[in-house]
This record gives sequence, C-alpha cells and structure tokens, in this order.
Amino acid sequence: AEKCDLKGKWKNELGSNMTISETDKNGYFLGSYLTAVTTHTNVEIKKSPISGVMVHSSQPIFAFHVKWTFSDSITTFTGQCFVDSSGERLETMWLLKATARSSDDNWASTRVGSNVFRRLI
Ligand code: BTN
Repeated sequence: AEKCDLKGKWKNELGSNMTISETDKNGYFLGSYLTAVTTHTNVEIKKSPISGVMVHSSQPIFAFHVKWTFSDSITTFTGQCFVDSSGERLETMWLLKATARSSDDNWASTRVGSNVFRRLI
C-alpha cells in the first residue's frame, strides 16, 4: 500500500487548517494550526504552534499538541494517518483543556471530540 505522510497542509471538517513540517528521524515534528472555531466569543483567532511525534510506519500513529496563542488553553490530538482510494486523511481524537480558575471549577474545563483532516493539494 501507499505510504501516508504527515508532512504538508491539512484541513478538517470544521474548516481548521494546519501545516506539519518535516519529521526528524525520531519522529518529532513541528507545525502551525489555524482553527476555524473557538470557545471564546471576543477573541481574534491567531495561528498557534504545533509540537508532536509520530511512529514511523506506512500508516503512522501520532500525537501532537497545540498551545493556543490567543487563549489560556491547550489541545492534545492523537490519531492515525490512513491512505486508501479516498485519499490521505488523519483520523484524530482531541482533548481541549481550558484553564480553570480553581480546582472546584476544574470539572468543566475539558472538552473532548474527534476531527478528520484531509490533505490540501
Ligand atoms: C480555544 O477556543 O480555547 C482555542 C481553540 C480551540 C479549537 C478547538 S481544538 C479542537 C477543535 N478542532 C478544531 O479544529 N478546533 C477546535
């Protein structure tokens, strides 16, 4: 089968875009993320940095995090790159942790979801 390559530009079903750079020999990579949506109402969305690692294989698993530059929150993504007749895609799940003001408020500070990214040509 073809090899699924994480490097490049990707878009998910929310309209968010990300660019992943070359991965090093140990699987570590950097990138940038431009989200189409935010939990905040009055913020200007800005590009935010990605740091991640993958396990080299034909359909690699990976994990990365996004440190949002416009928000006191972090999202972790984990998933796998698949390639077949419908093309290359990243099937991911994510956790979004917002900063809670106190431990009592912490219960409400984590969101969970999934995203599928497709390669932009
Ligand atoms: C925030 O609102 O605190 C930062 C932006 C969070 C965007 C989330 S991350 C998971 C989901 N997938 C996206 O592409 N955007 C949202």
